[in-house]
Amino acid sequence: MRAIITGASTGIGREMAKYAYSLGMEVWITGQNASALATLSEECGKAPQLAADLSTHAGQSALLSWIHEVKIDLFVNNAGYGVWKDVVHAEDDELEKMIRLNVEALLRLSRVVAKSMVAQGHGCILNVASTAAFLPGPHMSAYYASKAFVLSFSESLHTELRRTGVTVTTLCPGPTKSQFFDRAGMGAMPLLDGPWMPQMTSASVAKAGVDAALRGKRRIVPGIMNYLSSKAPIFMPRYIQLGVLNWLQGPLK
Ligand SMILES: NC(=O)c1ccc[n+]([C@@H]2O[C@H](COP(=O)([O-])OP(=O)(O)OC[C@H]3O[C@@H](n4cnc5c(N)ncnc54)[C@H](OP(=O)(O)O)[C@@H]3O)[C@@H](O)[C@H]2O)c1
Repeated sequence: MRAIITGASTGIGREMAKYAYSLGMEVWITGQNASALATLSEECGKAPQLAADLSTHAGQSALLSWIHEVKIDLFVNNAGYGVWKDVVHAEDDELEKMIRLNVEALLRLSRVVAKSMVAQGHGCILNVASTAAFLPGPHMSAYYASKAFVLSFSESLHTELRRTGVTVTTLCPGPTKSQFFDRAGMGAMPLLDGPWMPQMTSASVAKAGVDAALRGKRRIVPGIMNYLSSKAPIFMPRYIQLGVLNWLQGPLK
């Protein structure tokens, strides 16, 4: 079996590659950092690797050419990042670039890979959303909206593909130890990794996601606190969600 994983150079994606390899799968890895990919490739039986910026159309096309006519059993859209910044403080193209990765690349790659999996009669797609998909997120508004897209799109695609042998699983991690918070500029968040926001390891999130995808599950929210926060919209009106997230993610004054 062959697994192809985006965002494999660090964090959750890197752990997914290692876990899939430990299950006996051949893994193909992609990210931006070529030297991190080379190190991981050695750990995963000289895994084929591709360095590409998936926030660009050219980078997405390079990945699609690389996997053209390759039989894929598991495809993971994991590459993504957040921007912790009020909308009016964002640079020109800062949020738009994030959306091109978190939304456009995931949509394009899911569409092309799903089509070839339907033709081969089987396959699993694993799309990485977040518990952010269930809530509005003041001070990270475009990131939260991007993950709401991933969840809605991926669950609908899963339903469209019923009876084709192809499944689409959405992984919704909560706070997880990785480079995510530094990349998002969230190092200064006071509640980070406190009792209110316990962080899971990338390895445990990766295992939960890959196992769920191989079982063809529609959605997986690993961790009890994360599972409960995914249910918040049922018992918490939207205006309270906005207030809580505004408080939790408000920049230091
Ligand atoms: N950590 C959390 O708390 C958390 C919670 C919920 C959801 N998630 C989601 O989990 C996924 C993985 O994040 P992580 O926590 O593992 O963070 P991470 O350690 O920062 O890893 C992000 C990965 O995405 C890749 N990436 C970033 N920009 C890219 C681009 N323009 N083109 C191609 N690849 C790019 C990175 O590659 P390079 O390093 O080579 O640039 C890296 O491999 C993301 O979709 C994130 O939104 C994370």
